[in-house]
Amino acid sequence: MNKHIISLISILLLTLLIGTLLASCGTSNTTPASSGGSSDGKTLLQERCSVCHSADRVTSAHKTADQWTTTVQRMVSKGAQLNSQEQQTLIDYLAANYK
Ligand code: HEC
Repeated sequence: MNKHIISLISILLLTLLIGTLLASCGTSNTTPASSGGSSDGKTLLQERCSVCHSADRVTSAHKTADQWTTTVQRMVSKGAQLNSQEQQTLIDYLAANYK
């Protein structure tokens, strides 16, 4: 009876130990991937603004920084996938290169 309980407990402890080891392995493997830098304006333009129309539609336009801000916000409201930091990066890039 006593022996039985002890072996049950040791099996439990062993499973716990293996579980923690596996879990810590998993987390240490995924950490470096999340530290990738954010995209630059050119990449954002190619990746996020050519979904509904070609990127040429954007690069053939010439606008001031204010107008680009309005346009980018208008496209975001249509469904362009950019967080607020990416919007700012893209607006700066567009205002500098397509004025
Ligand atoms: C969800 C679809 C969609 C995405 C994504 C998108 N656009 Fe557009 N865009 C449109 C549509 C539809 C039009 C034409 C109708 C209009 O002008 O409202 C357009 C027109 C434009 C025009 C010409 C009209 C104008 O206002 O000068 C520009 C410039 C433009 N988009 C820039 C962008 C930029 C920059 C991005 C990336 C942030 C982008 N678009 C992403 C849908 C999209």
